[in-house]
Amino acid sequence: PPPKDVKQDPNAASSTELPRDADWGQMTTSFGAPVADDIPPLTVGERGPILLQDFHLIDKLAHFDRERVPERVVHAKGAGAHGYFEVTKDVSHLTSAKFLSQVGKRTPMFARFSTVIPESGSADTVRNPRGFALKFYTEDGNFDMVGNNTPVFFDNVLASFVDIIHPQKRDPRTHLFSPDMFWDKFTLRPVSFHQLLIQFSNRGTPDGFRHMHGFSSHTYKLINSEGVPHYVKWHFRTDQGIKNLKADEAVELAGKDPDYATRDLFDSIERGDYPSWTLYFQVLTEEEAYNYKYDVFDVTKVISKKDYPLQEVGRFVLNRNPENYFAEVEQAAFAPSHMVPGIAPSPDPLLQGRLFSYTDAHLHRLGPNYSLLPINSPIKPANNTMRDGAMMFTDNYGRKTNYYPNSFGGPHPDRTIYEGEKDWFVSGKVGRYRKDACEKDYEQPRALYRLLDKTEQQDLVDNLAKDVSITQPFIQKRVLEVLGRIDEEFRSRVEAFLRKKNPDI
Ligand code: HEM
Repeated sequence: PPPKDVKQDPNAASSTELPRDADWGQMTTSFGAPVADDIPPLTVGERGPILLQDFHLIDKLAHFDRERVPERVVHAKGAGAHGYFEVTKDVSHLTSAKFLSQVGKRTPMFARFSTVIPESGSADTVRNPRGFALKFYTEDGNFDMVGNNTPVFFDNVLASFVDIIHPQKRDPRTHLFSPDMFWDKFTLRPVSFHQLLIQFSNRGTPDGFRHMHGFSSHTYKLINSEGVPHYVKWHFRTDQGIKNLKADEAVELAGKDPDYATRDLFDSIERGDYPSWTLYFQVLTEEEAYNYKYDVFDVTKVISKKDYPLQEVGRFVLNRNPENYFAEVEQAAFAPSHMVPGIAPSPDPLLQGRLFSYTDAHLHRLGPNYSLLPINSPIKPANNTMRDGAMMFTDNYGRKTNYYPNSFGGPHPDRTIYEGEKDWFVSGKVGRYRKDACEKDYEQPRALYRLLDKTEQQDLVDNLAKDVSITQPFIQKRVLEVLGRIDEEFRSRVEAFLRKKNPDI
C-alpha cells in the first residue's frame, strides 16, 4: 500500500527506547504450523546430535543465511522516512505533471538520505556528499528525484563514473581507503574540484540529514500542456536551516555515535518535530538553456541565482518513520528514469547514463520483480504485459492476456499523453568527444572559494590540506597546480600547510 500521511504520537518512544508491544500471538513456522518450542532443538537425548526433522530450526537457520541482499554499490548507508509533498505556487505553465498541477495538492512520498562511499555499517558523519533521494507516489506513477546535497557532481563524463568511485573506495590490495588513489584520480580530472571544494568545506560534514539542502544537480526538462519545454534545476532548501559539523566534531561523532544522522532523523520524526524542505525551480527557456554562459547540461556547473532566481514550487514534510527498515529503506529503489508525463531528462550525458544504471542495479540487488515490492509500487497498480520472473509474489495479473495488441482486452497505450509535445531535433557525427579541463572549469570553484567567509575558508584549507598531506609528494604537487589555477592565494595557503609536514614538496 502507498504510504499514508499519519500523524505521529509525540510521546512515542525514541530510537533508544523500545516500545513494549502487545502479544503478537502464536509463533508459527514459515508455512503457518504452530511452533511448540523455539529454544531447545530436537536432539537425541539431552546432549545428543540435532535431528534433521526439526524443520523449524532448519528453516530459521536457512532463512538467516539469506538475510542480506547486496548493499547498494554506492550510497549503502542511509536512512529514510515517509511524508508528503504539497504544491504552494502555481507551476502549471511549466509542467503538465499532475502532482504539480494545483496549489494545495498533496502527494505521498518517501525520502532516503545517505552517505556515498563507505559501506552500510559505516559512520554517518564521514566527509562525503550526501544522497537526497525522493520518491513521489503520483497518480501518473512514481516520480523519483535522485539528487545529492551538492548542486554539482565530480565529473561530466559518464564513463568516468566507475573511475570516480573506485579510487574513493578501498584499495584493491590493502582494503584500506587511500588518499593517494583519491587525489591521484581527482588531480587527473580537475573538473572535479568544484565538487571537492564543497566536500572539503564544512558542507562535507552536515549536522545530520535534516540540516542540508538537496539538489537535482542536473538540469531537467519540464514540458507543459502545450508541449513547450523549459529547462529546470531543482533546489530543495532545508526549512531547518543549514548546520554543519566541524571536522573534529564529525570524527568524534563517528566513534561516539556512528548512526548520528539516522538517529537524529528518526527521533525528530518520532517526537513530532517533522523536518521539511521547500522546493524551488531555476527556470530557463530552451533558448536560454542552449545559450547560457556555462553548459547547463554539464553537472559540474551551477546556474547563477542572480541570472535565474529561485522560484518557489512547494514543500515536502517527513512525518512518518518506517515500520520496518529492510522492507521500506533497504528495498527502496530510486531511479532517475522513474519519470512521469510533464518531466523528462535533459541531454546531460551523466543523467543519460544514470537513466540506465539505477534500474540495472536494482535488478541485480532486488531481482526482476522489485517494482512490486510495496515501497516501490505505484499507487495505481502497474498495468502491462510483463510477467513471471523470480519471486513473483502477486497474482501475476491472473488470467489477463499477456501480449499487445490483442483481441481479448488487456492494457493499451494512450498516444494522446504526449500529443502536444514538441519534436526535439538532434543531429551530429557519431564520435567520442573528449572533454578536457578548460579555463571555464576553474571559474566556479574560484567564485566559491572567494565567497566563503574567513572561518569557512580556513576550515576548507585545513580540511583539504590535512587530507592531501598524507599523499605522495608528486600528488601533493599536482594538487597545488590545480589549486593554483583556481586561486593563487588558496594554493599558497595549502602549500604552507603541506610544507610544514614536508619541506621538499
Ligand atoms: C545510488 C549510479 C551519479 C545520486 C546509485 C546507485 C548506482 C548509481 C548504481 C545504486 C542504486 C541502487 O542500488 O539502488 C550512478 C551513476 C552516476 C551517478 C552511473 C553517473 C553517471 C549520481 C549523481 C547523483 C547521484 C550525479 C546526484 C545528483 C545517487 C543517490 C543514490 C545513488 C542519492 C542513492 C539512492 C538511494 O537512496 O537508494 N547511483 N550515480 N548519483 N546515486 Fe548515483
